[in-house]
Amino acid sequence: QHFTAPSQLLAGVKLMLTAGPTREALDPVRFISNHSSGKMGYALAAAAQQMGAEVTLVSGPVALATPNGVTRINVESATQMHAAVMQDIKHQQIFIACAAVADYSPKQIAEHKIKKTSQDALVIELTKNPDIVADVAAGTNKPFTVGFAAETQGVAHYAQDKLKRKKLDMIAANNVAAQNQGFNSDHNALSVFWPNGHTELPLAEKTTLATHLLTLIAEQYHDTNR
Ligand code: CTP
Ligand code: CA
Repeated sequence: QHFTAPSQLLAGVKLMLTAGPTREALDPVRFISNHSSGKMGYALAAAAQQMGAEVTLVSGPVALATPNGVTRINVESATQMHAAVMQDIKHQQIFIACAAVADYSPKQIAEHKIKKTSQDALVIELTKNPDIVADVAAGTNKPFTVGFAAETQGVAHYAQDKLKRKKLDMIAANNVAAQNQGFNSDHNALSVFWPNGHTELPLAEKTTLATHLLTLIAEQYHDTNR
């Protein structure tokens, strides 16, 4: 059996990723979260490390092992993820936002477990979280910034809108409503957009897809930094 060594397209490049879901606490025993497994982000972290990058993985709570040679920073909430990213972003050359960050979190975290009452309805007020990838892309000396877009409809339209609005260098969009791909699956397909190009990465295992996406990222990164 022959193994081809992954080409060192990212030799010595400092690359940071976010991955997994975030958890937004309601009280000491409850939180709001989503179905992200972290598999795509972890596959990207492993592939980037194999391509020679120095990888920092800022991760929400997931049931995955840290890939070999990758520095992992654990966080829970969107606010914590934002702080962990901002703390170190000035040292990074590539940033990939793969995390499924909660858009909103409870305005107040109850100090004690919220008790059931005789009322049939319970209203929880939410407040908007910081947009991590938009804040990274808005910085001076920003790294090559890649976002993801999880959509259930109008994939290309919403992805291109996010690319522009968040001033990203690239966006990888997936249709999370499609069968056997996206959230919690081992497979995914991606539509990738950058300011003057587009390509489709067909349904594949997330590990294979990660290598393909990173090859594209490396090409565009080296192109824009020439
Ligand atoms: N993202 C982020 N911080 C947030 C929300 C999103 O960094 N608070 C990043 C995600 O990691 C992803 C990209 O932004 O790379 C797009 O996330 P998505 O949820 O698709 O976009 P939103 O702008 O939140 O729009 P919406 O959820 O309304 O589609
Ligand atoms: Ca969102």
